[in-house]
Amino acid sequence: MRRPAPAAALAIALAAGLLLAQAPAPAGFGGGRELQRLTGQRFEENCSGCHGAPGTAGRAPNLFDARLLAQRSDEDLFRTIKAGISGAEMPAFGEVLPDAQIWQLIAWLRLEADNAQPRPQFVADPDGAEIASEAQKFRIRVVARGLETPWGIAALPDGRLLVTERPGRLRLITADGRMTTVAGTPAVWERQDAGLMDVAIDPDFARTGWVYLSLVELLPGYQLPPPPVLKPGERPPNHPSMTVIVRGRINPAGQWVDQQILYRAPLDRYTPSGVHYGSRLAFDRQGRLLFSIGERGDMKNAQDLSTPLGKLHRINRDGSIPAGNPFAGKPGALPSILSYGHRNPQGLAFDAQGQLWEAEHGPSGGDEINLITPGGNYGWGVVSMGIQPGINAREAPGMIAPAAYYTPTIAPSGIMVYRGSRYPGWAGNLFVAALSGQQLRRLVIDGSRITHQEVLFKAYGRVRAVTTDRDGHILALVQQPTGQGTGQPLSASTPGLVIKLEPLP
Ligand code: HEC
Repeated sequence: MRRPAPAAALAIALAAGLLLAQAPAPAGFGGGRELQRLTGQRFEENCSGCHGAPGTAGRAPNLFDARLLAQRSDEDLFRTIKAGISGAEMPAFGEVLPDAQIWQLIAWLRLEADNAQPRPQFVADPDGAEIASEAQKFRIRVVARGLETPWGIAALPDGRLLVTERPGRLRLITADGRMTTVAGTPAVWERQDAGLMDVAIDPDFARTGWVYLSLVELLPGYQLPPPPVLKPGERPPNHPSMTVIVRGRINPAGQWVDQQILYRAPLDRYTPSGVHYGSRLAFDRQGRLLFSIGERGDMKNAQDLSTPLGKLHRINRDGSIPAGNPFAGKPGALPSILSYGHRNPQGLAFDAQGQLWEAEHGPSGGDEINLITPGGNYGWGVVSMGIQPGINAREAPGMIAPAAYYTPTIAPSGIMVYRGSRYPGWAGNLFVAALSGQQLRRLVIDGSRITHQEVLFKAYGRVRAVTTDRDGHILALVQQPTGQGTGQPLSASTPGLVIKLEPLP
């Protein structure tokens, strides 16, 4: 629990402020649209003549057909495009297009085909909806309403729930849905992706009472400039900020007390980017605390062991560094790092074997589910299954491939391995909450492999987190849709619910 002295913090803040003022736009962010446009142009030049455009028929099959694409693996499509189809009119493009461009065409086709699909009809009140999924029938129950961008959820042993709202409130919710706000929680910087993020309770909560929070703060000592006058549609500027991990207790009067800062990044690493804070919390079998931090929109960070950005971290519950951490004692590397090469990891879950699963957002396509090895490099900055300027490979020596990936994008957020006995057909399954994909997804895992997947629902908006209550019922946080077609920016704060999946015979 090292804390910089206030004067030193201010000096670093000023220095960082100077640096930030001159910092160039981060690499690896923002150029995605241009590369997609170029890829579309490549399709027009090489393929449209036979295959037509979205929604049109040509001499050859329309490739903007999500159903056709769902029946082909990326590898199938790659082989066809590279080698052509002998005896048919489909030419071989292996001599014309580099492999990287063929992979980009495939990802682009999947993204375009998905964009052309009708969006799922949004159901604002799913209470009572019954769903017969493959292995389990269940009914949706709304447990709590009136939340604003609910982000993290944890069940207390007394049956109450703790839920964070991104704008900065920590809520206590009783079993019958009554909600109060914990007073005195730390101030957060709320802008774009940032705010109050995850909540978790101590593995030994009954004895210790510790509650853990991840949140975003402005650089300590930073003087906010006076707010500028904005033109209509203009976004307010961002300021240097970072993910911080704290713990505290909630006293009987419902106040946040005894706060300790467990993790604060080196202050020269704070950046004004408003995206990719990661922030999911999890405890391993030994009771150590794991948390994720995204690369903040600059993919170089993910490969740089001297910055906490684009990493998973592991610390002891008091903030000290566990002796077994893979980079502890390695010069130039931050000792809290558990794994690296991550983009924006927002899902962490241990399975019954003690394996750590992780979910992270990809660039355009290329969302990942990973199985985490301590010290492992997960490739962001160098490889990706999605479309990203500056990345031209899907795999490389020393980089661990995802256990599953998603193109088109589903935007996986929280994940959970089901360990209870309420849903016999779902024992040991991995559940994935997805934001833009507006779904709760069930993955069957066998050892280190994902062998089957199913979308359980897709109609209740953005799904941010999934957990279980003390009785083993699955709970999820949902939030009204934002982004494409909604008239709201992707990061807009919208109303949300806590829902429960009640098993039915
Ligand atoms: C000269 C016409 C022609 C051009 C140009 C062409 N294709 Fe094809 N392509 C075909 C035909 C015809 C088929 C169907 C062959 C069959 O199934 O017998 C086909 C099949 C395919 C398939 C297989 C579809 C499936 O059902 O699995 C893919 C993928 C494909 N083309 C991609 C491309 C891409 C990408 C380009 C541009 C880089 C391209 N094609 C350019 C004629 C063309």
